[in-house]
Amino acid sequence: MNVPLPSARAHERLVQNLATGIDTPAAVSWAHVTAVAHHCVRHALVPATEPPGSPDAVRRVITELASAHPGLAGFLDPQVVPFWTAPLTPAAWTVLRDFWAGGEVMDDGPHRVDGYRLGDAYQALSADARRSRALCQTPPWIAELLLELSLEPATDEIGPQAVRMIDPACGTGHILLEAFHSARVYRRRGRAYGAHLSSEASIERALQTVHGVDLDAYAVLLARYRLLATSASILKVRIDQLPRAWPVQVACANSLLDREEPLLERCRYHAVVSNPPYIVVADARQRDLIRKAYPRVAAGKFPLALPFCELMFSLAAPGGHVAQLTSNSFMKREFGRKFIEQYLPAFDMRWVIDTSGAYIPGHGTPTVILVHRIRPPQGDTVITVRGVQGEPSIPEDPARGKVWSAIADSVRRRLAEDRLKDALASHSDIA
Ligand SMILES: C[S@@+](CC[C@H](N)C(=O)[O-])C[C@H]1O[C@@H](n2cnc3c(N)ncnc32)[C@H](O)[C@@H]1O
Repeated sequence: MNVPLPSARAHERLVQNLATGIDTPAAVSWAHVTAVAHHCVRHALVPATEPPGSPDAVRRVITELASAHPGLAGFLDPQVVPFWTAPLTPAAWTVLRDFWAGGEVMDDGPHRVDGYRLGDAYQALSADARRSRALCQTPPWIAELLLELSLEPATDEIGPQAVRMIDPACGTGHILLEAFHSARVYRRRGRAYGAHLSSEASIERALQTVHGVDLDAYAVLLARYRLLATSASILKVRIDQLPRAWPVQVACANSLLDREEPLLERCRYHAVVSNPPYIVVADARQRDLIRKAYPRVAAGKFPLALPFCELMFSLAAPGGHVAQLTSNSFMKREFGRKFIEQYLPAFDMRWVIDTSGAYIPGHGTPTVILVHRIRPPQGDTVITVRGVQGEPSIPEDPARGKVWSAIADSVRRRLAEDRLKDALASHSDIA
């Protein structure tokens, strides 16, 4: 296992120390952008070879990064990356330099350069992203299962060249990165479907498959960087050597209210996969706007999970697959009544997986995985995985926690059985 990142408390202290001469957003920005500069120099993703050993050197690396691909131009925008307008004192720079000196944030593991830890570091640094927008990284082992329940069957049906997925609350892109890898090496029933494709073609195809939207402009920029960094590192080139026309389809918008953003076009996606925010919006005006836009689900003091569910259903094409890890509070509280009794029954519910007993880092709220197809209910079977007891103690490796392992094993066993049944049925059709 990799050396862990410094603790959440250490990240907070870093921001407090930097924020003595500059404001907190600029302090978060300096702290994170310096980590990005280290990451792209360490992995040779930009022409710069000079290590970011001073504030000016960090700015030079970020300037190169911003011109490496059109999708990264936002790194020059002080509205998104406010470190441009806030000079750092020499003393503050020393604190910052020492914080990243261990190199843990650049350490993506032996097989991948996907900026996974940069995402976690942003969550740890930005109290604003955590508190006002509910940024909470979705662990890759959860993302993987959500995709097995949605993107994989969608790809089996639509084909890898045409399939499209979106995460409308994509944060720094943990689900998008898993979807990218899954699309890149897609295999249909054991056969390497894209085996004839070159690495370039399979990466371009994966970039065409994956779409994301988030309210947080910096998280969006980071998700774009991660997709491009991963693509470049697989091809063993720098980001500026990737074709500039390759798409990075991640946009900043309010997914619930923005009807102009092209990526939020309704009925467009074969798979919609998300870990949406669960918070109740504090601002009463925003809450009213959302209530008006989603009258079928937003009742009382609704959490964002409910309008997000309706949004996800509306983004899916007819028959599309929707998988979400969401709060289970709607099952227990009055605001969930209308949602359960009037809204959900119109759709084909496939799976209800109780994850409330699993230990999911950062997710204090009890959760559930819901999987639907966007069509009227078919038959009268819904597959459920019901919790019996919670995790006895915090597992050392949450991906191998007892409860999560039992959930993931039972879901995968059932998926394998269903695939076998389908294969036997199509074999007997042919015979
Ligand atoms: C639980 S996090 C998702 C994290 C993401 N799956 C990841 O691993 O990085 C919820 C995300 O919803 C975003 N969000 C909150 N309200 C939003 C809105 N109205 N439109 C779009 N995104 C929103 C937050 O910025 C946050 O990134």
